[in-house]
Amino acid sequence: KRILLCICILGILTQVGAYLKVQYNGDQVLKLTLKTTDDCEHMQNICKQLQLDLWKPSRIEDIQPGKEMHVRIPFPLLQKFKENLHQYSIPFEVMIKDVQKLIDSSNVGDYRRQKKILAEFDYTTYHPMDEIYQWMDQVKEAYSDLVSMHYLGSTYELRPIYYFKIGWPSDKQKKIIWMDCGIHAREWIAVAYCQWFVKEILETHKTNPLLQKVLHNIDFYIVPVLNIDGFVYSWNVNRLWRKSRSPHNNGSCYGVDLNRNFNSKWGSIGASNNCRDETYCGTGPASEPEVNAVSKLLGSLKSDVLCFLTIHSYGQLLLLPYGYTKDPSINHEEMINVAQKAAAKLQEKHGTEYRVGSTSHLLYSNSGSSRDWATDLGINFSYTFELRDTGAHGFILPANQIRPTCEETMAGVMTIVEHVDAKF
Ligand code: ARG
Ligand code: ZN
Repeated sequence: KRILLCICILGILTQVGAYLKVQYNGDQVLKLTLKTTDDCEHMQNICKQLQLDLWKPSRIEDIQPGKEMHVRIPFPLLQKFKENLHQYSIPFEVMIKDVQKLIDSSNVGDYRRQKKILAEFDYTTYHPMDEIYQWMDQVKEAYSDLVSMHYLGSTYELRPIYYFKIGWPSDKQKKIIWMDCGIHAREWIAVAYCQWFVKEILETHKTNPLLQKVLHNIDFYIVPVLNIDGFVYSWNVNRLWRKSRSPHNNGSCYGVDLNRNFNSKWGSIGASNNCRDETYCGTGPASEPEVNAVSKLLGSLKSDVLCFLTIHSYGQLLLLPYGYTKDPSINHEEMINVAQKAAAKLQEKHGTEYRVGSTSHLLYSNSGSSRDWATDLGINFSYTFELRDTGAHGFILPANQIRPTCEETMAGVMTIVEHVDAKF
């Protein structure tokens, strides 16, 4: 009887849980191309008044003539919003017809949620944090000769952040390539890629001559999920959550954009000091525990770090420094050449086209980014990957695109790894 009661309670909680989640029934993501400054100002005012979820650019102030704008319109506002666009002769395209339907269809594959052995881990579906923690433990155990797992720090909600160190033990000081994923919670494909990258190294290093060489010279430091609080929240409450989950302004708003919290011209350009905004930069440089943890570790290792890679979505972009200035970084020429080779190798895989350039030229100006901070730390190769797609699904990339996205990104990343390894 007691077991039956527990099963009933669990069933009720699951049902209630589904309703506690933010629902996006009937919401649409529209793609607008604004031609004039007046149109931009008009759109900026509407986005401000209605507090709309702007997917591209990330900040209202960055809405510019000639640049695509992607914005999610709640169903109740849809009719009026479209009438307004018609009234101002602003052309638009419906990119996502029903956000909730896309979330429901693309959340997870047919993965049965039960404890799996590592060999059965499905890298072609999305996994919640408890499964990623379990996977990390299994990887550490199964490949203890090549992999060690280390505590990086704790999140605001005191979840442990771990990183893998992957490379052959050596009596000489090895160099480092860094990769972090999941700094923005809703960018799930980035987390899936970090897991795929680890799998590929572990499963192919014995037959891949490049990896055999690299793993003797270099250690990969890989953080599969950096913004764990936000990632858990995007699974349990709000699929489109971006920031961390620290409370601000007496709990009237939550979360810092961790990619605006690094100590690189912090709080200057392309970041907000309003805690309600998606690009809220926090109360000070590296004010957030997640950012502080990365800053401390990389700060202590900086002379050995050859390359810094931070994985995001979406946009199919390979972004160089800087975001906080239009000036090129010291190593810009070499970085752009390597990036163009990487984008070409990536495209060979499945035909996916990437654009290459600095964030401030290709996307928008932003201060406090991890990549810019790594560049100014003296790391010579520092890139942001914005994975698939360009807006057809945006942050809600269907699970059936995990494999091709990861395969092509491997080709791009390994091009960079090969260049960096050959240099030193
Ligand atoms: N990952 C990006 C960021 O860190 C957001 C990209 C949104 N899409 C776009 N093409 N702007 O802000
Ligand atoms: Zn991002």
